[in-house]
Amino acid sequence: MTEVVEYHPATDPGAFSAQILGRELWDHQLAFARSKARYRVVCAGRQVGKSTTLSAVALFEATTRNNVTVLLVSAGEVASRRLLEECTSLALNSPMLSGSVLDDSKSILTLSNGSRIISVPASSRQIRGWPVDVLILDEAGFIDTEIWRAAEPAIIARPGSRVIMVSTPWGGLDHFFRQLWQRGMDRPSEQVESWHWPSTVSPLVDAALLEQIRERESPDYFRREFLAEWTDEAGAYFTEAEIMSAVADYELVAPEDLVLPWLGDRFDQRYTVAAGIDWGFSRDANALTMVSVLEDFGLNQNRHGDNLIFYVPWLEAQHNWSYADFIDRIVESGRTYRYDFLASEVNGVGAYPTDDLSARLQESRVDGWVGRVWTDAKRKQSGFSKIKGLLQRRRLVLPNHPELLKQLRGLEFEQLASGSTRIAVPDRAGHDDLVMSLMQAVSLVYPDYARRTIDTNLRWSLERERPVADDLLETRSGLYVPRHAKPVAYSRGWAGWPEGVERGNSQW
Ligand SMILES: Nc1ncnc2c1ncn2[C@@H]1O[C@H](COP(=O)(O)OP(=O)(O)OP(=O)(O)O)[C@@H](O)[C@H]1O
Ligand SMILES: [Mg+2]
Repeated sequence: MTEVVEYHPATDPGAFSAQILGRELWDHQLAFARSKARYRVVCAGRQVGKSTTLSAVALFEATTRNNVTVLLVSAGEVASRRLLEECTSLALNSPMLSGSVLDDSKSILTLSNGSRIISVPASSRQIRGWPVDVLILDEAGFIDTEIWRAAEPAIIARPGSRVIMVSTPWGGLDHFFRQLWQRGMDRPSEQVESWHWPSTVSPLVDAALLEQIRERESPDYFRREFLAEWTDEAGAYFTEAEIMSAVADYELVAPEDLVLPWLGDRFDQRYTVAAGIDWGFSRDANALTMVSVLEDFGLNQNRHGDNLIFYVPWLEAQHNWSYADFIDRIVESGRTYRYDFLASEVNGVGAYPTDDLSARLQESRVDGWVGRVWTDAKRKQSGFSKIKGLLQRRRLVLPNHPELLKQLRGLEFEQLASGSTRIAVPDRAGHDDLVMSLMQAVSLVYPDYARRTIDTNLRWSLERERPVADDLLETRSGLYVPRHAKPVAYSRGWAGWPEGVERGNSQW
């Protein structure tokens, strides 16, 4: 025997909308309207029936129970008025409801059963202070997280209360709408359920018209407004392709294993590097990353002429080391590699170890100018965009170092309302010590000055080292990298202070 499910307008929003409001809901609207989840979150495109659904649900909640308060919050004043107008006109046009409308002001619709629908803009102080049973946020992505934080506790404290959020995709990774929506998509539960409504879910939206819009509008706009996809206000800072096309599985050479070149008496027989240092605090490690110019024996000349390629000869991160031990390690590393410049972060815990490092280098008569750098949003933006630029122009090769690659992938950016960009590895994605030290090191390089100027006296010694086929690697972007990679010997002048650096001490 098949069970026939009878939907009654007093208990079912679908039947209510069809029989009382005279509007049959579409399937996607029904699934949402019938959900019992405490938080219902919809990320939607244009013209999919958001306003229609919200007003039907608001009226259902307010008319089928007595003394209920439905609070509609919109991002702006006009939108909030329009949404209430929609509710009012649906109620007045329904023969069964029109009699119960007691009062319809600009912001409150009062019904004879003691229930009311209140509509306010998010900026309004009225968002607080109501005993709310159903909170509906329209264009939730445009509502400040602060406002949400202030409003949410009062609602959640009421038994049986519900929250509904609908918006086009907007808001950074930390925005409450995006987080809740993602949670409901990834792990739907009685608590949170989410839906994705691109414009194509509406039977009225015509594919040919959408195609015309796609052609005339920018791709980001079309994706956001019609495909309901989050575009680039936030996301991964580096694309997977940018990272992976620059990776070569060459050997990282620890300072103690470095075999120094023999270039004759008149040369400083060490490999020059620029180094970036990130000082750890609690979870994070102390990290040192060196960047130098790669000796490619002219093998990439067809692509880069006399411009040299940068790479990371060595990097290390040490958890649970004292600053003193890590400083000693940095100083010792400067006895084989030759530091030209070191960028050391002084914000957070960095000021003291930076000064100590300067002093220790000096005492130990180890080369290296220490720059005291303050890592703010602007510096991160210029540092990471320099890395991005070098990757895109194929001037930077990355080692196949799983933790470094993981951190590069974990790096996210978010466009803030102030117009600036926040770049960070979010806590859930792990550490940022290596990417930060890489950023510091890269901030010291001047690619225009990294050019091959081989002294003819050096050429013979280079020829001897030219790798044979087995010892030659290739990145996906087509750069040749020796497996036993080494910096270009006797190459200096490509490193210097980045803008805004406070020069510390220190060259003995
Ligand atoms: N269930 C339905 N049955 C018939 N027509 C509907 C239904 N739902 C919505 N519509 C119609 O589809 C159009 C878009 O609906 P609505 O305004 O609710 O969408 P929206 O997503 O709020 O649009 P916008 O993105 O412009 O704010 C309107 O003309 C509306 O009357
Ligand atoms: Mg609308």
